[in-house]
Amino acid sequence: MKKIGILFGQENTFPQAFINRINKKKINGIMAEAVMIDKVMQADPTEYAVIIDRISQDVPFYRAYLKNAAISGTAVLNNPFWWSADEKFFNNALAIKTGVPVPKTVLLPSKDRPDDTTENSFRNLKYPMDWDGIFEHIGFPAYMKPFAGGGWKNVYKLNNADEFFKNHSETGQLIMMLQEEIVFNEYFRCYCLGGNEVRIMQYEPRNPHHLRYVHDGPPLSKKLLDTVKDYTIKLNAALGYDFNTVEFAVRDGIPYAIDFCNPAPDADINSVGQENFEWVVETAANMAIKRAQEHKPGQMNLTWGTFVKNAVAPTTKKPAAKKAPAKKAAPAIKTPVAKKAQTKAKTPTATAPEVKKAPAKAVATKAKKATPAKTTTGKKTTAAKKTSITKVKATTATTKKPVKKATTTKSKSK
Ligand SMILES: Nc1ncnc2c1ncn2[C@@H]1O[C@H](COP(=O)(O)OP(=O)(O)O)[C@@H](O)[C@H]1O
Ligand SMILES: [Mg+2]
Repeated sequence: MKKIGILFGQENTFPQAFINRINKKKINGIMAEAVMIDKVMQADPTEYAVIIDRISQDVPFYRAYLKNAAISGTAVLNNPFWWSADEKFFNNALAIKTGVPVPKTVLLPSKDRPDDTTENSFRNLKYPMDWDGIFEHIGFPAYMKPFAGGGWKNVYKLNNADEFFKNHSETGQLIMMLQEEIVFNEYFRCYCLGGNEVRIMQYEPRNPHHLRYVHDGPPLSKKLLDTVKDYTIKLNAALGYDFNTVEFAVRDGIPYAIDFCNPAPDADINSVGQENFEWVVETAANMAIKRAQEHKPGQMNLTWGTFVKNAVAPTTKKPAAKKAPAKKAAPAIKTPVAKKAQTKAKTPTATAPEVKKAPAKAVATKAKKATPAKTTTGKKTTAAKKTSITKVKATTATTKKPVKKATTTKSKSK
């Protein structure tokens, strides 16, 4: 019997429907249930061939449990190691290398110093930072949001430098990104499951939460939808997420990836609607069943993206020295195997970077699987801590009356 488990938090519709759907299919040797944990012993395999993770972004204990499960053979979806490693800023850089357009984005040091650091911890940081250069590059209006965020928390739309300084000063220890605004006429939220199953949902983020999923939108060009699907698959292939949503804002016909780091995306029937919900339940159930059937006990059963796979490929080259006597070992790098590995390693970066602004025909990676979005796990800032890293131009920042809650899009909903 191959067991499929689901680990979840406050959700009340998707997990239950997912379990029921799998069990209703009555597939020989397959069953699904909610994961139950009563103790976690190092290197102990779990009873699950597959675990779908919907909550470890909020519960670090679960993340450690899942890594332990993975090393012992459970196929954890999404890969808990990758999910621990990436964040939105890195993922934007990866999108560029992959040939998917993203808004211009810069990373900002946190306003307040992390706990247990002093001024000396930041001697490598130029003070003041090149704010003028940053603003010139990004332009206003701009969006400011956490590099490890989700659920619209701490997302700001800013109209000028004063608003930036005022709002940034309230972000405490969060690492923020400043991003070019994409003024869009279409917006899509796309589910991507198993790396290749894509559901494009028209979405209007400017509507109130319950009206964001557009059901009878205007007809869309096939070319645009094909491009959105292609970019969704490319991103997820590079990242290696099995379960993810990717958001695109379309400007002048070009879809820009806005938010594609959502490995536990909202799947609640009350927000995505009946039809989308049905798709997610059925597709996720089939994906989990397939993974359970392919499961190899005791082996690594995780999905890795092409970013990681290509990066480690060179180290897997055949030990050329083995064959050749020690003296001849030196030129081993010239053997066909080694050469091949080298070229391969370079492929992704070699073909992609030109894409920078414009989209891209350049198909850099070939990957097949992939990706998602996250919710903030960052500790809430300690407001008491006033030690500032990004002290900002005192003139603009402190003298101007703070712009009133600069049109923030702060909200809890995803
Ligand atoms: N660069 C941008 N241009 C235009 N709108 C944006 C941009 N970044 C964010 N938004 C708006 O803010 C919303 C929340 O931002 P998002 O990046 O999706 O963060 P979260 O991960 O918290 O959902 C998006 O759905 C979109 O409506
Ligand atoms: Mg979002």
